Amino acid sequence: MLNIRIEKTQAPKELPTKENPLKFGTIFTDHMFIMNYETGKGWHDARIVPYQPIALEPSAMVFHYGQEMFEGLKAYRADDGRTLLFRPNKNAERTNRTNRRICIPEIDENDYIDAIKALVKVDEAWVPTKPGTSLYIRPFIIATDPFLGVRPSDTYMFMIILSPVGAYYPEGLNPVKIWIEDDYVRAVKGGIGEAKTGGNYVASLKSQVKAHDAGYSQVLWLDGVHRKYIEEVGAMNIFFKINGTVVTPMLNGSILPGVTRDSVIQLCKNWGIPVEEKRISIDEIFEAYQNGTLEEVFGTGTAAVISPVGELRWEDHIMPVKTGEIGELSQKLYDTITGIQLGKLEDNNKWTVEV
Ligand code: COI
Repeated sequence: MLNIRIEKTQAPKELPTKENPLKFGTIFTDHMFIMNYETGKGWHDARIVPYQPIALEPSAMVFHYGQEMFEGLKAYRADDGRTLLFRPNKNAERTNRTNRRICIPEIDENDYIDAIKALVKVDEAWVPTKPGTSLYIRPFIIATDPFLGVRPSDTYMFMIILSPVGAYYPEGLNPVKIWIEDDYVRAVKGGIGEAKTGGNYVASLKSQVKAHDAGYSQVLWLDGVHRKYIEEVGAMNIFFKINGTVVTPMLNGSILPGVTRDSVIQLCKNWGIPVEEKRISIDEIFEAYQNGTLEEVFGTGTAAVISPVGELRWEDHIMPVKTGEIGELSQKLYDTITGIQLGKLEDNNKWTVEV
């Protein structure tokens, strides 16, 4: 059991009960978790303190070479008053996978989950209750050595902050429009595409701005070698329902292994819906669109949950997906996943964990 010192705030903020609807990632709770690392000493000094700015040397390595990682998960308020986390063990495992890739020392996965639980418990009053809302949990680690040479840092800070959120996209459950990028690439196999590190997101910004300016919500990336195989969207993994079969790009080293992605695959399998994780070319998607077998497209992510896609744009081709409304499967997946997260549906897979 992680030993955590707790210092409560003397000046609690007003809860955002008047914010309607809650936006994504703009409000932060009263407390945050911090733990330090030093070579030879390991992870130590776990504490929960009032949410506040942190002081770092301008030479801290995170500012120069981007040695940092982050995660995202959510806490939900069940009708019976319990606060539930969704598959936090997957985030703990993925944190250590990312850490190994970018030379950050691993964290004991039980300690990681203990830290999340303890912080959410302290700020439990901040877990929102309106439909479509949750408490977003953002664990992250930064390299803090004051040094300008390129090497792994010897010191780190692991922090967790909390933010009561509504839908990630202003569209909510209305389908989003996605731009298929054919100019820039996000990641390549052997790079850091499957790690949850800021570098992958900064690589996406230029295309995202271009897509936004053209009226699209997000960018769908093609692979960096052939420039033809589907990878993932800026903030989510992507699924297609083609002629009754659900297909999603297989994890190939450059795609983020999403927790919601994994949950959707398991649910579809449980329901007897054929699911294929495979290499999918943009030509196949265009062909399915042209012959009328592209039935549904949706993104999956912790922030995005299930996000229906109503239009894909690839080069000069504009592909509206069916009626432009949420598809039957996307709706069923959204209802089931959020139902389990909120403790309304039977949790047969034991995915939820009480705080
Ligand atoms: C999440 O879905 O939790 C993420 O980390 C994606 C982020 C870009 C909001």
